[in-house]
Amino acid sequence: MAFNDFSSAGLILGIESSCDETAAAVVRRGTEVLSNVIASQIRTHAPYGGVVPELASREHLQNIVPVVRAALEQASCSYRDLDAVAVTAGPGLAGALLVGVMYAKGLAFALEKPLLAVNHLEGHIHAVLMDTKRQSDARPQPTLALVVSGGHTHLYLAEETAGGPWRYRNVGKTVDDAAGEAFDKVAKLLGLGYPGGPWIDWLAQHGDPRAVPFGPIQVKQKPYRAASGQSPRLLFSFSGLKTAVLRYVQTHDMANLIETRRRTLADLPDAKPNDALPLCDAETLDLIASFQHAVVEDLVRKTFAVAEDFYCASIVVSGGVAANGELRRRFLAEGKKRSLLVAFPSLALSTDNAAMIAAAAWPKLVAGDFAADQLSADPALMLG
Ligand code: KG4
Ligand code: ZN
Repeated sequence: MAFNDFSSAGLILGIESSCDETAAAVVRRGTEVLSNVIASQIRTHAPYGGVVPELASREHLQNIVPVVRAALEQASCSYRDLDAVAVTAGPGLAGALLVGVMYAKGLAFALEKPLLAVNHLEGHIHAVLMDTKRQSDARPQPTLALVVSGGHTHLYLAEETAGGPWRYRNVGKTVDDAAGEAFDKVAKLLGLGYPGGPWIDWLAQHGDPRAVPFGPIQVKQKPYRAASGQSPRLLFSFSGLKTAVLRYVQTHDMANLIETRRRTLADLPDAKPNDALPLCDAETLDLIASFQHAVVEDLVRKTFAVAEDFYCASIVVSGGVAANGELRRRFLAEGKKRSLLVAFPSLALSTDNAAMIAAAAWPKLVAGDFAADQLSADPALMLG
């Protein structure tokens, strides 16, 4: 049964709990964000320098009810006003996903409303599409979507089917660390805060991006081609760069300064990237800027090469790393040079949120693509 009641408001409650944010949002007809509430767990996980799955699940359990209530209140609507409930079914942490999926199933059942299952990566892509949809109906397609976050560095060809859901084809991925993971690990290695991306982004402005010549990232032809069937041209790899930063730190005797920085920041109640600036010497700032430059150049080079290979008419970049200032500047400049439209989500919708889940669910509601009664969390859910 497709959703064809066009007199209805088309209100979808989106729920997201795949990692370390408990989020709920109400979105009208896939484009108009009426509320977007996020309970972040950064403070819980910061002392560990990464997400602790067990703690994440427990915090989701505590937060899910108040976060959903706040989302409805801010949208000035009641449970009965909703047309559907949408939830992230994967990929992500199993225990974290289960909290959102079980809550959404229970709510949809009690309200007798349809339940829609959304892939988290599809959500990130729709964080951009929702903005571009508002601006114009004519989106050049196919679109190449780079989803670049703490858990993923994936390239998808994305196309809207006539009146139906979107279709995705995975054409590129990382063979080891995700780009955001590399930002987080390098920040931890340098004694900076968590998550590392915003710290590196801010501090990199004070360093010379060409000071440490990391060079273009190479993905070796073998064994990846055999394992994935994909050309190295379509593959990313960031673990070698992270090791190169570690070697630089070791050979340049940076350990003492890093330890002092780590301790000083740990003693501050709510440390911010600008607190780290006086704790970094010029060599550290140059290293940070050069690392970021190497990641951004690799993402730009490969994404535009793939866009050309597949004759794409536009590029969308989303996921937490899409908040990065240098990445945005470089993608926009390269798009201008090659006459390719490049779009990003607003900064608020770059990192994990539930508005993107509700937006991605709208075409599914229209097409009647409802979740099965047996829906469960799938930590390794694939897209396309
Ligand atoms: O999409 P997201 O919120 O969660 C996942 O699905 O992973 O992305 C989080 C990732 C983290 O690795 C974080 O360090 C990175 O996005 N990130 C950034 C920036 N803001 C967040 N990376 C680089 N520059 C930023 N400004
Ligand atoms: Zn994400």
